[in-house]
Amino acid sequence: MKIVIINGPNLNFLGTREPEIYGTQTLEEIESKIQKYAETQEVDCSFFQSNSEGELIDRIQQAHLDKVDGIVLNPAAYTHYSYAIHDAVKSIMIPTVEVHLSAIHARESFRKESVIASACIGQISGFGATGYLLAIQALKEVRNKGGER
Ligand code: DQA
Repeated sequence: MKIVIINGPNLNFLGTREPEIYGTQTLEEIESKIQKYAETQEVDCSFFQSNSEGELIDRIQQAHLDKVDGIVLNPAAYTHYSYAIHDAVKSIMIPTVEVHLSAIHARESFRKESVIASACIGQISGFGATGYLLAIQALKEVRNKGGER
């Protein structure tokens, strides 16, 4: 099973960025934790991060061309206003799980709304880096059950 992990703007600054909210692990450390977990699950993972909306959309479209089986997407601040990323997820038939390190529903009011979640099969928020592992597990289960949840 092939899964791509896509992270949006400012997540390349994890470790430095508001550690009281996002923790002290760098994105590289989180990706290495995901990679180790994916190996135990026989999942082939690739990773992508960008600070640009267009590059994130290009990577989502590329996942379709690459016939990837699932996407784990942390759109970061784009979560709250990018209809373009919503449309990109909707354009492809790949099950996508939205992940947030922080508990977005327990933060500022502008973070409570996700314009992307309705294009995804589910949303995981508030479990830090573990959220990415939970998303992989969810994508595997959905696949094994043939899309039934
Ligand atoms: C985030 C939550 C967003 O509101 C924020 O803009 C981010 C990170 C998270 O992982 O908790 O950049 O997606």
